[in-house]
Amino acid sequence: MADIFERLIKNYGPIGQHRERAHGYFAFPKLEGEIGSKMMFRGKEMIVWSLNNYLGLANHPEVRKADADASAQYGLALPMGARMMSGNSDLHEQLEAELAAFEYKEDAILMNYGYQGIMSAIDAICGRHDVVVYDAECHACIIDGLRMLPGHRFVYKHNDIEDCEKQLKRAQALIDKQQSGGILVITEGVFGMAGDQGKLKEVAALKSKFFFRLLVDDAHGFGTLGKTGAGAGEEQGCQDAIDLYFSTFAKSMASIGAFMAGPKTIIDYIRYNIRSQIFAKSLPMPYVVGNLKRLDLLRTQPELKDRLWKNALALQNGLKQRGFDIGKTDSVVTPVYMKGGVEEATAMVMDIRENYKIFCSIVVYPVIPKGHIIYRLIPTAVHTQEEIDLTLKAFSETKAKLDAGAYKVSEIPDMANK
Ligand SMILES: Cc1ncc(COP(=O)(O)O)c(C=O)c1O
Repeated sequence: MADIFERLIKNYGPIGQHRERAHGYFAFPKLEGEIGSKMMFRGKEMIVWSLNNYLGLANHPEVRKADADASAQYGLALPMGARMMSGNSDLHEQLEAELAAFEYKEDAILMNYGYQGIMSAIDAICGRHDVVVYDAECHACIIDGLRMLPGHRFVYKHNDIEDCEKQLKRAQALIDKQQSGGILVITEGVFGMAGDQGKLKEVAALKSKFFFRLLVDDAHGFGTLGKTGAGAGEEQGCQDAIDLYFSTFAKSMASIGAFMAGPKTIIDYIRYNIRSQIFAKSLPMPYVVGNLKRLDLLRTQPELKDRLWKNALALQNGLKQRGFDIGKTDSVVTPVYMKGGVEEATAMVMDIRENYKIFCSIVVYPVIPKGHIIYRLIPTAVHTQEEIDLTLKAFSETKAKLDAGAYKVSEIPDMANK
């Protein structure tokens, strides 16, 4: 008989296999100091492009005060127990009502975390005869939610409406055969890696041909897109066609928690059937109060979103003018596509960090195909034009070095914390 543990430590997984050289630098780095456009990394101050602190709320003085006051007043314990049993409060319900109104929906339910929340919501909503049709590039939390699905699922090619229609036809045929079940389509408002918006309007238009409900994970659109910041549905003018709107608080809100908004009857059903909330302690009060404050700032300080977009466009246009390929982003998420091996990519990141004092994250094989490198830059409302200019200069110089083969190394540089 094999020892399960033995298999695990044979290789440590696709990223873990590099941990002896990478830990603390390329993986699990520690950014220290106040959250902002500049932070400390291994004792050096760096311009940071890796945080989803889109609106700069993480260190907004009103947010910091609300968080501190609520922590002093309530501590982290209150309320105790799951909401269904003993952990409910007026403030939890107030936050739900305000989120629902912000998203033009009847009701909303709070979740402790986005990842487990959406997984568990999918589990609560779908039965064994239901069929889910979903975009191929949906976030891991949706894929994991689908792993619990007792019914069938059909994936469509990323943002490919023709294929979405094809999969809807398959789903419809299966349901006709079963003579029971319904269809849930799941996609995202903004795909967090490439920054392209989900084609919500086109997907929603398929409702004229098929009967389905639409669930949208708008983690990156919430607070950044739409006239009021209500997200990708508002931006594309199809918020009403989104039956269930989901977002985490981990990005624009710079906090913890998540919510799902939709019709009162359905949110009530989820409230009484979502296992990750029913069998878990509710969000501690400082998170609830802190999230109420953040939502208030989203509503009352639209200049935060304006500043975010000003910076995002300056960065994106600057990259394009310098000949960089930033793909098809139509959100503030800014990918930069380059070619090179994993070793080269790590040597380049080292140069950018050590010599240009710029901290950004890369995505390499096996997350994306071999030979490709994606830098993923996240602009925020608190970056400055000077920081953008320095970054553009650094990218131009390091790209020239990459093209000249200056980063060709045989192994990942050893930068691990020893
Ligand atoms: C699209 C998307 N959905 C859900 C999540 C998970 O949210 P949380 O961090 O609140 O668990 C993330 C990442 O944070 C995400 O990018």
